[in-house]
Amino acid sequence: MKLCMIGTGYVGLVSGVCFSDVGNIVYCVDKDKKKIDSLNNGIVPIYEPGLEEILKRNRKAKRLFFTSDLNEAVKKSDIVFICVGTPTKKKSNSADLKHVFTVTKQLKKNISKYKIIITKSTVPVTTGDKIEQILRNLKKKKLIDVVSNPEFLREGEAIRDFIYPDRVVIGTDSNKANKILKSLYLPIIKKSSRYFKTSRRGAEMIKYASNAFLATKISYINELANLCEKIGVNIQDISIGMGLDQRIGDRFLRAGPAYGGSCFPKDTRALIDVADKYKTDLSIIKSVIKSNNQRKITLTKRIDKILNNRLKNKNITFLGVTFKPNTDDMREASSIPMINYLNKKGSKIRYYDPSGRKMEFDKLKNVKFYSSISSACIKSDLIIIHTEWNAFKLLDFKKLVKKKNFKVFDMRNIYSRDKMRDLKIDYTSIGR
Ligand code: UGA
Repeated sequence: MKLCMIGTGYVGLVSGVCFSDVGNIVYCVDKDKKKIDSLNNGIVPIYEPGLEEILKRNRKAKRLFFTSDLNEAVKKSDIVFICVGTPTKKKSNSADLKHVFTVTKQLKKNISKYKIIITKSTVPVTTGDKIEQILRNLKKKKLIDVVSNPEFLREGEAIRDFIYPDRVVIGTDSNKANKILKSLYLPIIKKSSRYFKTSRRGAEMIKYASNAFLATKISYINELANLCEKIGVNIQDISIGMGLDQRIGDRFLRAGPAYGGSCFPKDTRALIDVADKYKTDLSIIKSVIKSNNQRKITLTKRIDKILNNRLKNKNITFLGVTFKPNTDDMREASSIPMINYLNKKGSKIRYYDPSGRKMEFDKLKNVKFYSSISSACIKSDLIIIHTEWNAFKLLDFKKLVKKKNFKVFDMRNIYSRDKMRDLKIDYTSIGR
């Protein structure tokens, strides 16, 4: 099939590359010409393991093309995926749909034979209705069906999530579109995943409901971790014990810093915004947002306490600053408010992240990037493991740090408390 992916962000690029790998011809479109130029030179703008290799393979096989010419790409395609960003609007909870609607308006002029228009971007319920309204003349002529097909990729695991999805959700009441999409997804859904067709609004809602639920699981375990610390119980045992109940499941029950990223914070806010418009109180999700904000404060206070409320001139090393491993994404990473606070209090921050230096900290005077774990740690009073990259899992802290009385705050519970005690390292972790 011939596909057009509009927007080469995470969703559009990964989906486009992977769709081409299963034999489709894919045109990836972006208005950012520089980005298109670098993609045409085989340079991938995001850090996603495995992506560059698959991209190069399919460009070589002439199945994958990058262009800024939206009109041409749409004309050549049978299915058009809208994959543009839907960030939170300034000073509001609502998702900003201006890119979605700009693209939709551009589609108006370029459709003269049947095409399926799909929203893959995360969009609030009823967005599909609005797109269909803009394209109503094409709909009347039966030249389009507007379908919702939300994406459930995780950054850092995106290729695997695309090839082995738990489910493919299709929201449409058109049998014609459904039949075509089933055959598009056939190479993927054969492998133990479920193809689930529902209404368009249903599919839009499933995406928000899923992200909000996962965010709830994390906030739930993070709050329980606070209690476990006080009553001397290990939160990891609680996660395992709870997770053995198949109704609960053990995934997304790892206690740690506040959740971040481009999705959970934005999507929980957008869901509240939709609920407000429909005068429905989603009190649980509101509490989750509040709890996650509080989490950033709680862990920052913990750092203060570990250093006996003396932050000034202390050398604090952050190992990992991204919101999770295997990504270079800093969006809503909890390291940002923490480092900003510590910097204001006069601490000297040294950080290392396998995905490199971060512009978020470039303007902060006493915050410096080091290009190795050892150079970041050598002068430390406190090492904070903020992101659980593999590179941080087997460290010999005593060899890394010069100072005698250094401390370690392991926000991801990577290390064994007993071993740290045996090594006489002043070690703090989460919920145990
Ligand atoms: C999330 C969802 O997991 C994907 O299914 C969804 O497609 C994506 O959002 C999206 O809407 O596009 P992602 O943001 O890449 O994916 O990251 P996650 O792996 O879900 O992690 C989000 C945050 O939760 C991270 O800060 C992570 O450290 C934290 N987390 C995750 C925990 O603190 N504990 C856990 O047990 C799991």
